[in-house]
Amino acid sequence: MPGNLYFSKKNKVKEKTLTIHFTEFDSPDDLSLAEQELIKSATKATDTSYAPYSQFKVGAAVLLENGEIIMGSNQENTAYPSGLCAERVAVFTAKANFPKLKIKAVAVTAKTKNFSVDTPITPCGACRQVIAETEKRQQSKIKILMKGQKGPVLSVEGIENLLPLMFHEEKLKK
Ligand code: THU
Repeated sequence: MPGNLYFSKKNKVKEKTLTIHFTEFDSPDDLSLAEQELIKSATKATDTSYAPYSQFKVGAAVLLENGEIIMGSNQENTAYPSGLCAERVAVFTAKANFPKLKIKAVAVTAKTKNFSVDTPITPCGACRQVIAETEKRQQSKIKILMKGQKGPVLSVEGIENLLPLMFHEEKLKK
């Protein structure tokens, strides 16, 4: 049935599968000391969140290759799309102040007065895209640690595990 939107030409279809890898830690205590420190900084950063609209206070912490930690938190705005997520605040602050230093890892967590955040906070699509660009720019992978107020910590070694089939700069060239 040529041109039929509902019936594909089954013999021309290749079903493919992409696998992502992530590690689940029962507790931050199971991470390295440097990673525990990064998560503590992300947790501390939730206190600087400005989230009067969502009440969802997100904190992020970026570990630079020289060991320095840069913190960020979500900053909301009454014109909603003008606000920015914690991860992008932290990554952009790091790159604006230390453009030459590679980012080794990003930790993210959140809290709200409305309920207990018991599952890991995972970055939104736009933040994943920014982390993807940062990896390309610095030509090295970024570890991403994700945590709630309680519960397990998730860890991925590189953004391809959160953003499969990502759009990147080479796609703009032939
Ligand atoms: N938010 C973040 O800062 N990071 C995330 O990974 C998810 C969402 C913020 C955006 C907004 O201020 C609030 O959380 C609710 O979506």
